[in-house]
Amino acid sequence: MTMKIFLIFLSCFTLCCFAKQRSTLHINVTEGAGRKIPDTFFGAFFEEINHAGAGGLWAELVRNRGFEEGGSSVPSNIFPWAMVGDDSTIQISTDRSSCFDRNKVALRMDVLCDGPKSCPPDGVGISNPGFWGMNIEKTHKYKVVFFAKASGVVDLRVSFVGSDNTELASNSITSVGHNVTEWTRMETVLEAKATNHNASLQITTSKKGVLWLDQVSAMPLDTFKGHGFRKDLAQRVAALKPKFFRFPGGCYVEGGYMRNAFRWKDSVGAWEERPGHFGDVWSYWTDDGFGYFEGLQEALDGLEFAKGSAKSKWGSLRASMGHPDPFDLRIVAIGNEECAMSKYRRNYLKFYDAIKQAYPDIEIISNCDASQKPLDHPADFYDFHIYTNANDMFSKHTKFDDAPRYGPKAFVSEYAVWQSDAGNGTLLAAVAEAAFLIGLEKNSDVVHMVSYAPLFVNKNDRRWTPDAIVFDSHQSYGTPSYWIQHLFSTSSGATLLDSTLESTSDYIVASAIEYRNPSEKKMYLRIKVVNFDSDPHRFRFSISGVDSKVKAYGATRTVITGPNVKEENSFSEPNRIVPQHSSLKNASSDMTLMLPPYSLTSLDLFI
Ligand SMILES: *[C@@H]1O[C@H](CO)[C@@H](O)[C@H](O)[C@H]1NC(C)=O
Ligand SMILES: *[C@@H]1O[C@H](CO)[C@@H](O)[C@H](O)[C@H]1NC(C)=O
Ligand SMILES: *[C@@H]1O[C@H](CO)[C@@H](O)[C@H](O)[C@H]1NC(C)=O
Ligand SMILES: *[C@@H]1O[C@H](CO)[C@@H](O)[C@H](O)[C@H]1NC(C)=O
Ligand SMILES: *[C@@H]1O[C@H](CO)[C@@H](O)[C@H](O)[C@H]1NC(C)=O
Repeated sequence: MTMKIFLIFLSCFTLCCFAKQRSTLHINVTEGAGRKIPDTFFGAFFEEINHAGAGGLWAELVRNRGFEEGGSSVPSNIFPWAMVGDDSTIQISTDRSSCFDRNKVALRMDVLCDGPKSCPPDGVGISNPGFWGMNIEKTHKYKVVFFAKASGVVDLRVSFVGSDNTELASNSITSVGHNVTEWTRMETVLEAKATNHNASLQITTSKKGVLWLDQVSAMPLDTFKGHGFRKDLAQRVAALKPKFFRFPGGCYVEGGYMRNAFRWKDSVGAWEERPGHFGDVWSYWTDDGFGYFEGLQEALDGLEFAKGSAKSKWGSLRASMGHPDPFDLRIVAIGNEECAMSKYRRNYLKFYDAIKQAYPDIEIISNCDASQKPLDHPADFYDFHIYTNANDMFSKHTKFDDAPRYGPKAFVSEYAVWQSDAGNGTLLAAVAEAAFLIGLEKNSDVVHMVSYAPLFVNKNDRRWTPDAIVFDSHQSYGTPSYWIQHLFSTSSGATLLDSTLESTSDYIVASAIEYRNPSEKKMYLRIKVVNFDSDPHRFRFSISGVDSKVKAYGATRTVITGPNVKEENSFSEPNRIVPQHSSLKNASSDMTLMLPPYSLTSLDLFI
C-alpha cells in the first residue's frame, strides 16, 4: 500500500515537467579542473552510548557477567541476574572471593534443596536475560564460559530458556567424582533447537552445597569475521565503507567525573580480568587517583599499545591478545569539546609536545574551532561538532566556504539534525544533512574527515536521539540519515569536479564527482543534488569538456525522498525511506529532470 503511493508520487514529479523554479549545474570535466577528495573523507564515529557496544555491536549476550555492575563493594548490584528457585531452596549473595584480583566480587549460591525430590524439576540457580532479552536462533551455536568453585562436586545445567519458558538448548557440566574447591574455568557449546529473541541464560543445579560463580559469558560462535561483533550491526557499518574509525568516543572517554573516565588499560588483556567494562558503562567504578601525570602517561602507553613493537611493554600485551602487528592508528584527538575551558590549551600543549616527540608521525586534533580564525596553538586538525535544526543544517552547506585555506584541516567528527525536526530520524533531517555534506565535499580542501553521530542506539535505552542505526536484541534498521551516508560513501578518494550552479532557488545544493567503482573498475560521474524546497524543482546539468564520453545506457538515478518530511523508518517498516534506484534512460551530457520536494537525487553516469 505505502509502496504504491510512493511510486506514484515519484513518477508524478518525474513525468510532468512543470515547476516554477529551475537550476543548471555546469560541470567541467576537463582533465586537471577537478580536485581529489581525501581518501579518508567519510568515516564512522563509535562511542559507547545507547548501548552501542555493550548490548550492541559487541555480541556478548550476558549482561553484568562479573556481578560487578554496582561497583566493587559487596553486596553488589547483580541486576539483571535473577534467582531461579525460592527462599526455601536457594539463597543468593555476593562476596569478594573471586580469583580475579581486579574484580573480586563473585556470586555465591547456597543450595538448600538436595536432589530431584526436594529441588524443582529444572533445579535452582540463576538466570540472566542479557540486554533486554538474548537473541537465540535455531541451529546457531553459543559458547558459554564461566568460572566456578564449590564446597564439593559440581553438577550444573546450563541452558537457554525462551520468554515463554521453553527450553532452547541445554547441556550439563559435572565434575564427576571430584570436588571443585578451587576456581575452575568451565566451558560448553550449546546448539539452539528453536529461536527466541527474548531468551535468558540459566545456570542451575539440584545438588545441595555452596557454589560460587564469576565471569559468566555467552557468545554466539557466528560473529562478524570471527571478531566478536554482532553480524547484522557490523555489516551495516561496513556498508558505509568507513575510511576511518573514531574511537573510543566523545564525552564517554572523559566521563562526567574523572573517576568515571574510560581507562583503556582496564579494557585490554584477558576479558575475565577486566574490572568493569560489562553492564552499564556509565556507572562503572574506577579509583580516584587519576591525575595529570597518569593522564599523559596513559596516552603515551595507549599509543604504544596500538603502534609499539610486539616487544614493547604495551605492544607485547597487544601481541598476547593475538595482534602482533601494530594497528594503523594515525590521528589522536586531545580532549572533546572543552576548548572553552580555562586549562584546555595549557594541558593540550603538554599532550601535543609529548605525543609528537614520541610519535612524530601521529597527527593531532585540537577541539578549538579554526573555521573562523586561525588557532593560537599547533594542531594538524581541528574538531568541529554540529547539532542543530534542519534549516540551520541546510544553511551550513556554505559553512566552510570562507574558512582559512591554510593551517589545520577540519575534522567534522559529529554532525546531525536533532530535536523536533529530527524525531528519531526523519527524512527532513536527512535531506538537510545531505546538503551540509555536499558543502563539505566542495570544501574538502580544508575539511578532511566527516562522521555522523551517534552511530548506534539500542531502542531499549535511548540516551541520545537521533542515531544512524537502530537495533534491539535481533533486528536493526538504518534511519534516513544512515542512507544518506550510504550514498556518500563513494566520495572518499573521488575527484571533485569543477562545477557551478545557476539557480532561481536558494534551496538547491549540488556537486559532481568522478569515481571508480572498485568492483566493476568503471569510471562514473556522480551528480548529487538536494532540493530542500517543498516544491518540485526543474534541474538541468550540462557537462563540458568530454560531451561524447557520457554513455546513453547504464546510467542510474537514485532518489531519497518520501511523501512526508517527518517520515521515519521503523522495525515494522525499515525500508520506508531508503534509496530508490531507477535507470536513467538516454543519458547525455545535457539533461533536464525533475527533483521531488525534500529530496536527495544522485545521478550516476558512465563516462
Ligand atoms: C574547464 O577547466 C579548464 C582547466 O582548468 C579550463 O581551462 C577551462 O576554461 C574550463 N572551462 C570552463 C567552461 O570553465
Ligand atoms: C521479554 O521477556 C520479559 C520477561 O522475561 C518481558 O518482561 C519483556 O516484556 C519481554 N520483552 C519483549 C520485547 O517481548
Ligand atoms: C569432597 O568433599 C567432601 C566434603 O565436602 C568429602 O566428604 C569428599 O570425600 C570429597 N571428595 C573428594 C573426591 O575429594
Ligand atoms: C522515538 O522513540 C521512542 C521510543 O524508542 C518513542 O517513545 C518516541 O515517541 C519516538 N519519537 C518519535 C518522534 O517518534
Ligand atoms: C530514448 O531515445 C530513443 C531514440 O532516440 C527514443 O525513441 C526514446 O523515446 C528515448 N527514451 C526516452 C525515455 O526519452
